[in-house]
Amino acid sequence: MSPVTIYHNPNCGTSRNTLKLIRHFGIDPDVVEYLATPPSREALVDLIARAGLTARDIVRKKGTPYAELGLDSADEAALLDAMVAHPILINRPIVASERGVALCRPSDVVLDVLPLQPGNDAFKEDGAQFLRDDRIAADDPALIAALRAGDLPVEDLAESGRRFFAYRTLAGTRVGFGGYELYGHDALLRSVVVLANVQTKKIGRNLVPLLAYRAMREGARTAWLLTKTAAGFFDKIGYKRRDRDEAPTAILTTRQAKSLCPTSAVLMAKKLGF
Ligand SMILES: CC(C)(COP(=O)(O)OP(=O)(O)OC[C@H]1O[C@@H](n2cnc3c(N)ncnc32)[C@H](O)[C@@H]1OP(=O)(O)O)[C@@H](O)C(=O)NCCC(=O)NCCS
Repeated sequence: MSPVTIYHNPNCGTSRNTLKLIRHFGIDPDVVEYLATPPSREALVDLIARAGLTARDIVRKKGTPYAELGLDSADEAALLDAMVAHPILINRPIVASERGVALCRPSDVVLDVLPLQPGNDAFKEDGAQFLRDDRIAADDPALIAALRAGDLPVEDLAESGRRFFAYRTLAGTRVGFGGYELYGHDALLRSVVVLANVQTKKIGRNLVPLLAYRAMREGARTAWLLTKTAAGFFDKIGYKRRDRDEAPTAILTTRQAKSLCPTSAVLMAKKLGF
């Protein structure tokens, strides 16, 4: 038995990218095509618990009988029963190893459960690089330099409640930074910057979902942001423009919203989920 198991759907790009990344490290995983051979209820309960998630977190709506089965009001037990009866309701891919279990959306998240090892760069099916993220300190000089170069605020970096990450390719090339502030179920994404020499190479479109994933795993259910020049970029990755009166007070009273971003900055938001 391989030390890594992937619950895989070959029709899903994220699942294929995840499998590609596992194999990139020379690992030959057990590939469970769960639509044909679904996990038992007990196995599913175990995977969900080890991932630190709930059945509701891993239920898939798109392209499934979720609405037809009226699962909006289902409790955890009913969701599990539905997923066992209709495995298409299980979101994919779930990867299990000795290091843990993760629902790998985006696919780069699988690095959390693979043995840490250096690697060569690798690319998703759309040509974007797989990225690693590392938590960094707010006073990291490279973060500050990149934010200044991107004309983004640095005045409030050291205040409490902020998290910052550096992003690099699998071979270790630093490509950008991002951060968030968490206010209950609302996160303010901030300090998103791709280094100038690697902009327009699909790094931003990979970096933001990875950043939003980290916020989501800390409880965020909506990601908000303010941008002076990149609204067109965020439009392309599913963020919607919002009026200020649609945002919760916690977001409107952040330093970014109150004083650091001009009132002309565009407010945008996206619901978070796998
Ligand atoms: C905005 C930024 C993060 C985008 O990252 P990137 O790696 O260059 O973007 P990608 O290559 O992933 O681009 C994805 C798409 O958005 C488009 N795009 C990129 N930057 C854009 C911008 N500023 N405005 C409009 N569209 C943009 C790309 O052309 C691409 O379009 P396509 O899918 O049709 O080809 C990066 O340009 C940057 O760091 N800018 C300076 C700092 C900044 O403005 N940060 C946002 C603050 S909230």
